[in-house]
Amino acid sequence: MKILGIETSCDETSAAVIDDVKVLSNIISSQEIHNQFGGVVPELASRAHIRTIVPIVEKALEKAQASLSDLDGFAVTYGPGLVGALLVGLNFVKGLALATSKPFVGVNHIEGHIYGNILSQTKIEFPIIFLIVSGGHTQLVLMEDHLKYKIIGQTRDDAAGEAFDKGAKLLGLGYPGGPLIDKLAQKGDPDRYQFPRAMLKDNPFDFSYSGLKTSLLVFLQKLTPEEKEKHLNDICASYQKAAVEVLVVKTIRAAKEYGAKRIAIAGGVAANSLLRSWLKQACDEHGFEFYLPDFAYCTDNAAMIARAGLEYLRHGKQSDFNLNAYPALKLTQTE
Ligand code: KG4
Ligand code: ZN
Repeated sequence: MKILGIETSCDETSAAVIDDVKVLSNIISSQEIHNQFGGVVPELASRAHIRTIVPIVEKALEKAQASLSDLDGFAVTYGPGLVGALLVGLNFVKGLALATSKPFVGVNHIEGHIYGNILSQTKIEFPIIFLIVSGGHTQLVLMEDHLKYKIIGQTRDDAAGEAFDKGAKLLGLGYPGGPLIDKLAQKGDPDRYQFPRAMLKDNPFDFSYSGLKTSLLVFLQKLTPEEKEKHLNDICASYQKAAVEVLVVKTIRAAKEYGAKRIAIAGGVAANSLLRSWLKQACDEHGFEFYLPDFAYCTDNAAMIARAGLEYLRHGKQSDFNLNAYPALKLTQTE
């Protein structure tokens, strides 16, 4: 099956063509305009999607050497995300589906991230414990088969990516903060400072990141600008270690508790170098197989949406033209 996928949930306009599990093209245009504001400005995001969606889709088709008539269907993110941004991609795909009389399917963006990992593997087996860590979501999910999820834990406040982005903002580093902290942390001492790790006794698989961010704020208030500058790499390394340690500990614990032999990570924070290496080492120590996603499929991209859509279309599931955009869509438990 040849599928065109489209992703416009936040600040990336992306289109991809896949042929079964093979990615023929995956074009991503990141909106630079938000950098000066230290975060995504929704109205500017929608307008930028409108400007770029046609050339991006054309480029994806051209690179894949495919025309609309070669396609078997379309997949598009319908939530969660910014409503105006989601509507650009969703309505564009509805137009394509109507014009070509081909099926389309709405894909949950979080599920898309899961399939970004699956897309990176030559072979997968279930059940898998999935750690989903992005700018908006932090969840532990037991995936028992394709499209079958059991939610076993999630964040009660900030997402892991938010801890990186807000931490970077406090440190005056810019947006998005994850890659910036990751880079500086590589030159720092992760044990120089102690930041809190929220383990949450009442549900050991839930997460909380607001305390970590606040502790950085309080810590920085006590430093002079000179001290901050001098120890910036150590602060980044120590902060990153605190953020990543809870992810590693809870993921390993979940795999043991649920008897899953495989662990996978997905979402933007899955690009973090410490999370990748630490979890790999922990999986080796505890005898779990580790599914690592390619960097290209960690942060937002349309190939992952096309891959998830392929699974729905293969199972005979498609959306109808009443499908709306859902900004607060969640990944829910399947029966
Ligand atoms: O999945 P994604 O592209 O968008 C959402 O669905 O939210 O994730 C973006 C998040 C941002 O918070 C960004 O700071 C974080 O992923 N991120 C990283 C790294 N690369 C991206 N966080 C830590 N280390 C990285 N190397
Ligand atoms: Zn995402």
